[in-house]
Amino acid sequence: MPSLLDGRTAVVTGAASGIGRAIARRFAGEGAAVVVADLREEPREGGDPTHEVVREESDAEATFVSCDVTDHDDLTAAMDAAEEYGGVDVLINNAGIVGPQAPIGDVEPDEYRQLMRVNQDGVFFASQLAAERMAGNGGGSIVNVSSVAGIRGYGGLTPYCTAKGGIRLFTYALAAELGPQGVRVNAVHPGVIETAMTTEDSPIVGTEEGEATREAIPLQRFGQPGDVADAVLFLASDMASFVTAESLVVDGGATHTA
Ligand SMILES: NC(=O)c1ccc[n+]([C@@H]2O[C@H](COP(=O)([O-])OP(=O)(O)OC[C@H]3O[C@@H](n4cnc5c(N)ncnc54)[C@H](O)[C@@H]3O)[C@@H](O)[C@H]2O)c1
Repeated sequence: MPSLLDGRTAVVTGAASGIGRAIARRFAGEGAAVVVADLREEPREGGDPTHEVVREESDAEATFVSCDVTDHDDLTAAMDAAEEYGGVDVLINNAGIVGPQAPIGDVEPDEYRQLMRVNQDGVFFASQLAAERMAGNGGGSIVNVSSVAGIRGYGGLTPYCTAKGGIRLFTYALAAELGPQGVRVNAVHPGVIETAMTTEDSPIVGTEEGEATREAIPLQRFGQPGDVADAVLFLASDMASFVTAESLVVDGGATHTA
């Protein structure tokens, strides 16, 4: 039986760690060649580099490209790496940071701008580069990793919400623009997922406050990176061939029930 991404090539930003790593592994398991585009090769949570794990556990091709999504040349290098496998068919804009977590009066301009460079500019310019190549190659699929913070406002997280909300509307606008060229553009909105972001950068998982959050989730647990990878796989694959300009929330039911 053919796999969902047989013959496809995917560029996954931020795929060294966490959610991006799970996406890369899931995609490779479905037959995709994967370009791991990240600042770092070593996963934040430990273990072997993603491209090595992918090669070990599947027959898929995988390569690592040192890529800062705020750097246009690095993004071009990631797209060029995909040419080795036939050209980019799928782009997953996953790289992201939490940035400043403070009342607006305490947000440092430099920290704010860096957050926007990574979480918003990186998504915009990676999509710009991929869109041109996909359109010339008969189509493709872009999935942007936003957040539930791109749907609801969270006090103390205004910079992150600004960026992730912007990604949501960018997704819809780009879908309108690229649909006629056969390029679908969708967003996923994860809730709390257990990664270094939620254990270290913005500690929720394993904390007392986090326990109250977890109990309020209808499905009574935090998400795992694989939960998001499964949703992204659906949107990236032909299973979603009539789905574009859509937001898929992956949060155990929290956002629409609170
Ligand atoms: N973990 C969650 O609860 C959660 C919830 C909602 C949305 N998200 C989003 O999911 C995405 C992945 O988050 P995660 O939890 O896996 O985080 P993570 O910190 O575990 O992994 C993020 C990866 O992105 C890379 N990265 C960071 N800045 C980069 C840059 N400038 N260029 C290239 N790579 C860069 C890091 O090196 C790291 O490998 C992010 O966009 C995040 O905002 C996460």
